[in-house]
Amino acid sequence: MAKLAPSLLSADFARLGEDAVKVSENGAAYLHIDVMDGHFVPNISFGAGVMKSLDGYETAPYDVHLMIEEPDRYIGDFVTDKTEYIVVHQEACVHLHRTIQLIRSHGVKAGVAINPATPVSALQCILPDCDLILVMSVNPGFGGQSFIPASYDKIRELAKIREEKACGYVIEVDGGVNLENAVMLKDAGCDILVAGSAVFGAEDAGERVREFMKVLK
Ligand code: DX5
Ligand code: ZN
Repeated sequence: MAKLAPSLLSADFARLGEDAVKVSENGAAYLHIDVMDGHFVPNISFGAGVMKSLDGYETAPYDVHLMIEEPDRYIGDFVTDKTEYIVVHQEACVHLHRTIQLIRSHGVKAGVAINPATPVSALQCILPDCDLILVMSVNPGFGGQSFIPASYDKIRELAKIREEKACGYVIEVDGGVNLENAVMLKDAGCDILVAGSAVFGAEDAGERVREFMKVLK
């Protein structure tokens, strides 16, 4: 079974609380929080204040995806009772091992994301220290882009290494995920699927989450 993490980037920002509750009560395992700084990626989304505005709502835990430069400066801001994962980009961290330790020092699970142009081998030395590896299946920055098929091989490679080396990370995929490719992603070894436009672009986001859950069983 794989889990679904709807990306709030595609939610209605004027009704963020309602949208977050709706997908949560219909089976979403996590709320995927896309943080963009306009430097690491060519877009600005929102920061910790907006995320924290959801704290009073009954939602799934947060899976925070930091698409920002110098993430060490902001990691503490994203730690809440509902923060399960904080994910940083390999490409944005000069001292990645230190950044992972910093995330864990807050009692939060640490994840590392790789862009489409970054090979799995770039993570070789750090894999045993990670709780989650995020395979970006689009170039980060925007919702609604097309899935890059080369991502399947990366997911399979990560699943194989995990088995061989008995590593403990979960595998997440993000970008262009929809009802059509969800089963193939699960079969390739994905544990968590992020979906933005495929969930919030639907007429009924709650119903769409239930459809995802059916195919991910
Ligand atoms: C892209 C973000 C994704 C995005 C996914 O930079 O990291 O989480 O919201 O959106 P969809 O599912 O529409 O590709
Ligand atoms: Zn994301």
